[in-house]
Amino acid sequence: MTSRWTALAQTDPEVAKAIRAEASRQHECLELIASENFVSEAVLEAAGSVFTNKYAEGYPGRRYYGGCENCDTVESLAIERARRLFGADHANVQPHSGTQANIAVYMTACKPGDTVLGMRLAHGGHLSHGHPLNFSGRMYRIVDYGVRREDELLDYEELAALAEKEKPRLIVCGASAYPRKIDFERIAGIAAQVGALCLADIAHIAGLVATGLHPSPVPHMDFVSTTTHKTLRGPRGGMILCRQEQAKELDKLLFPGNQGGPLVHIIAAKAVCLQEALQPAFAEYQRQVVANAAALADTLVQEGMRLVSGGTDNHLMLVDVSPLGLTGKSAQSLLEEAHITANKNTIPFDPNPPMVGSGIRLGSPALTTRGMKEAEMRCVGRLISKVLHSAENAAVLEEVRKKVRELTEAFPLYAERRSLDLPVA
Ligand SMILES: Cc1ncc(COP(=O)(O)O)c(C=O)c1O
Repeated sequence: MTSRWTALAQTDPEVAKAIRAEASRQHECLELIASENFVSEAVLEAAGSVFTNKYAEGYPGRRYYGGCENCDTVESLAIERARRLFGADHANVQPHSGTQANIAVYMTACKPGDTVLGMRLAHGGHLSHGHPLNFSGRMYRIVDYGVRREDELLDYEELAALAEKEKPRLIVCGASAYPRKIDFERIAGIAAQVGALCLADIAHIAGLVATGLHPSPVPHMDFVSTTTHKTLRGPRGGMILCRQEQAKELDKLLFPGNQGGPLVHIIAAKAVCLQEALQPAFAEYQRQVVANAAALADTLVQEGMRLVSGGTDNHLMLVDVSPLGLTGKSAQSLLEEAHITANKNTIPFDPNPPMVGSGIRLGSPALTTRGMKEAEMRCVGRLISKVLHSAENAAVLEEVRKKVRELTEAFPLYAERRSLDLPVA
């Protein structure tokens, strides 16, 4: 087999070696990080294309540099496909990341020092929704809301009362670690009542929203931001949707407001992923993502584990590992020893700090991309339970690693294996 990485291997063997090692790691481990996925070979090719050489400050038809006609083609395709997929008036596909998408929205909606309502990090929100160490918490007056102690579901009444009291300029909703549906329409209604603008950050659930498996915020919210690399299964990056009346200001505040030249190779890859997302197979994939998460959650509950809010409606779940005498941190490293990749996470009202946490967050998108279905997810659930109950028993860990090997070999990542340059079995 000819290697796709010949030039790299010759120029920089150390980086080439790290890429090969990463390819093997991705192939050999069970990926359960809820915010990760595996892009198609078509997306990988676009992301690795010669568009990385090009400066294209501005927008299609209005660039600061010459030679942008092909950039205009791919960016216009991405915009058109994003608008079609989500039924949005306007799409900006240039944000380098989800956080930068949010920066542009905050700058469009607010002045520094304005009051913003955002979901508490420990209850499932994201850093960019108001964490004190993030730009959002440093630039704006953040008032946070969360979930109810009794059922760990979003407390819409608290949110409404806070909105009434604080009269925010912007209400931010959407989450990084919330396993239930979010009532965007209700939150938009709360915002309207107090004259606030509203942003739904659908970074995690974009694929579900695109295929109707989660109610869409697009008709209700002023702004919708997302990443493109989670359930949407595209390249690492961000995107913003908004109403026509906000479009001009938003575009201006993304560029030149907070970014320079767009990453055109990534925009090309976003166009490809959006084209894939418009196909019937993508809706089937998302349906399986949700079914797989439900099967995994059900198995973990049967194995005696406590899930935050008791289960999941989407692609992710949070397991409270404290009853097992573990922290999120120790659970993550135990699973890693068994070649199962997950992340520690705080759970609502967590006594542990974020770097320790009392939970682990598990998601189904990546394993679903590999072709696994409910039966495999049930098997994965039993393996997780075995590891977390093992108290670092070496024989148990070895037995689980063996089973993980069988599963990953039965569901190879990138069937052709070209993109990963792995030896073909
Ligand atoms: C809800 C939410 N918003 C924004 C982001 C930020 O995305 P990025 O890491 O691309 O800045 C994330 C990432 O995890 C997220 O979960």
